[in-house]
Amino acid sequence: MSHLAIYRKYRPATFEDLLGQETIVKILKEEAKRDRLSHAYILSGPRGTGKTTSARLLAKIANCEKREKDSAFKEKGEPCNACTVCLAIDEGKSLDVVEIDGASNRGVDEIRDLKESIRTAPMASRFKVYIIDEAHMLTKDAWNALLKTLEEPPSYIIIILATTEMEKVPATIASRAQKFYFKLVPREEIVKKLTKIAKEEKIKISDEALDLIADYAEGSFRDSESLLDQMISLGDKSIEVEEIEKAVGKIGFDKIDEFVAFLLKGDQAKALEFVSSIADGGFSLSQFLRDVIQHLRRILVLRTNPQMEAVFKKEMMAEHLGKILAQAKNFTPAHVGLIKTLITAYGEMRYSQFPRIPLEVAIVEGLEKTKA
Ligand SMILES: Nc1ncnc2c1ncn2[C@@H]1O[C@H](COP(=O)(O)OP(=O)(O)O)[C@@H](O)[C@H]1O
Ligand SMILES: [Mg+2]
Ligand SMILES: [Zn+2]
Repeated sequence: MSHLAIYRKYRPATFEDLLGQETIVKILKEEAKRDRLSHAYILSGPRGTGKTTSARLLAKIANCEKREKDSAFKEKGEPCNACTVCLAIDEGKSLDVVEIDGASNRGVDEIRDLKESIRTAPMASRFKVYIIDEAHMLTKDAWNALLKTLEEPPSYIIIILATTEMEKVPATIASRAQKFYFKLVPREEIVKKLTKIAKEEKIKISDEALDLIADYAEGSFRDSESLLDQMISLGDKSIEVEEIEKAVGKIGFDKIDEFVAFLLKGDQAKALEFVSSIADGGFSLSQFLRDVIQHLRRILVLRTNPQMEAVFKKEMMAEHLGKILAQAKNFTPAHVGLIKTLITAYGEMRYSQFPRIPLEVAIVEGLEKTKA
């Protein structure tokens, strides 16, 4: 069976399916409906949030045959995904859509040739679209070549730059382009999409496991989909949280919650025992401590401002939020010092040959202080 990576198979084919980027989607669809595309776009933001996907959607919008012929369809502001042009773009075979990887050496040569290639009109479509991915990697020469092109772009040219580092795009270029800032996506959007994929692929996976994947992905769709992919290849039994924990070295909510309960009760012995089991299980202790600090931070914030519950609802499962709220009852002002001690330990752990020791010392010291 040929296996198409999940993130390729489930790449959004329409703006409607591009999740968590509502403002961008709204503007781009409007431009599409009015046929008012720019000559240059810069799509910036964290990895796996939809930049390359949007660049390809724009290329399809620009050249889709159905849009050109059918004014009723044009009103949708979407590509048809069925005409020869749309299909060619999906397969990376359109002669009028050139994708350049700014990070590869070949990319640099391709940009150098850009000035030449831009002079020739599109072969088969209305627009010639250049998608330059990883644009932050471009050399000074490449930027200069691009600038020349953008100073007097032929009417049929669209250049789309995608980058994770907007600040590396020269101001001369940025000022000539329409700029879109992609956001990390809320956990709930990721869970929604993963749930849909799991259903379509007939993957059995528990809610807790999905939650941990979404958590691990930290706002990146691609990371979440790659991890799901990796888990599927383990076989066809149901995917449980323990398997994800082992695969990524990060433990799930319930265990963090259990540990935090020991801390808030001041149970040094149990807390140390727990650290020991985490270390023996091969999990990353600094990842563990990060999650513990995040957990305590949420408790602290909720204690101080109960209205923040609405914000946290987007970040975590309802069941988990319930547990955090329950823990919050055991939180006292003295625990603020504990959080500080743990943060200091986190800094120390990363440079220590024995990361376990700063953590253990912090637990003992931090808990002593809460008693004082
Ligand atoms: N906003 C989004 N909505 C839905 N899926 C997304 C979104 N962003 C990324 N993805 C998923 O992640 C994969 C990689 O996205 P891509 O657009 O290449 O990210 P990047 O921002 O790194 O260019 C896509 O194929 C898709 O499956
Ligand atoms: Mg990309
Ligand atoms: Zn089409």
